[in-house]
Amino acid sequence: MSTFLPQEFIATIRDGKTVAPGDVKSFIDGIATGAVSDAQISAFAMAVFFNDLAAPAKVALTEAMRDSGDVLNWSDLDGPVLDKHSTGGIGDNVSLILAPIIAACGGFVPMISGRGLGHTGGTLDKFDAIPGYSTSPDNALFRNCVKQIGCAIIGQTGNLAPADKKIYAIRSATATVENTSLITASILSKKLAAGLDGLVLDVKCGSGAFMQTVSQARILANSLVDVANGAGVKTSGLITDMNQPLASAAGNAVEMQNAIDFLTGKHRDSRLLEVTFKLCIEMLLHGKLVTGADEARSKITKALQSGRAAEIFAHMVKMLGGPADLLDAPQKHLPKAPVIKDIFAETSGHVSSIDTRQIGLAVIVLGGGRKRPDDQIDYSVGFDQLAPIGTKLDINRPIARVHARDATSAQEAARMIRAAYNIGDQPDSTNIIIERIDFKESQ
Ligand code: URA
Repeated sequence: MSTFLPQEFIATIRDGKTVAPGDVKSFIDGIATGAVSDAQISAFAMAVFFNDLAAPAKVALTEAMRDSGDVLNWSDLDGPVLDKHSTGGIGDNVSLILAPIIAACGGFVPMISGRGLGHTGGTLDKFDAIPGYSTSPDNALFRNCVKQIGCAIIGQTGNLAPADKKIYAIRSATATVENTSLITASILSKKLAAGLDGLVLDVKCGSGAFMQTVSQARILANSLVDVANGAGVKTSGLITDMNQPLASAAGNAVEMQNAIDFLTGKHRDSRLLEVTFKLCIEMLLHGKLVTGADEARSKITKALQSGRAAEIFAHMVKMLGGPADLLDAPQKHLPKAPVIKDIFAETSGHVSSIDTRQIGLAVIVLGGGRKRPDDQIDYSVGFDQLAPIGTKLDINRPIARVHARDATSAQEAARMIRAAYNIGDQPDSTNIIIERIDFKESQ
């Protein structure tokens, strides 16, 4: 008979003492069996919120949440299984480009993605802009797509880390979301359930990110990197700048179009290119598909220049139910907003800084994001041609182009974008890669 008592376990955390990893597992296992009540989950979350967990307990929490449902097994594949996770930003369509590049370089990417959260966009919403594409295929189709094509980007399946679903809902309702241990276990339990060999984390930092300062981003990045490695997945992290949109588009169909233009070579935003390359290099190194960064860079360049990454993306879209000619004729398929207008600044000058969060909020105001969890979104709306920091704006160069469902929402979004853009002197250029976080063996 088990001697584990949930109330004693919670009291240990409440009093700031060390909990045994085995007890963490008993607590999480008790969620599925009913031995642990919702009231105890919320008390646990609040105790962790105030006192946090030591590294071994954080690893145990992540592993127990991962094992609360299905853990995918890819032993039938003849290459490494790799993935990336971003903490969320504006114009962050890296996943759309990165997954087919890694597949073209010999890796396999079973990418389980999420919807928009707060002011940030979500990869799944971008794929929902493609008519017919299924973000919830059955398991057999998902596995075939990864095996035959090398990547599949889909949503969280029913039985993937169900303990996280339960705990997350309670955290949302009990003001206990913002805790590094809980965020780490929540993000990683889902990623690790995908059965990965290697992972890279893109921890965003700045005005468009959840982590506004480098020190906050560093704490989260270190926690994620240490716990993922502690759970046996080779993982590194990059802290990247989110003080301006990453791509020049923000919205769903417009970001999909931007990614297609990137893959086909029609247009490549330079900051998006740099972040994508750096993340892909980490993944190829983790998967031992290359021996160094230079070899990785040339493999990635070849995957793009040869058109192989674009071809893989097209095959994935077709296999998951989308149009076979999406890359040849994206405008024929992606939803188009009825009102498309330039937004000009009121004065000429250089873009000196951007309140990037406001761009994400403007996408929501246009109808391209959710105000409530069950809101239907309009995939056609958003912005493109967003001017990066340093751009000279004048009567010929607008701040951006708005895609809106009507003139009134276009006007409101234009007002928000003008307020988000500060115009003045040309600023000094800043690095997009702020810091690299690697696993420290001593921890
Ligand atoms: N995303 C998650 O999946 N979980 C969190 O706790 C925060 C962000």
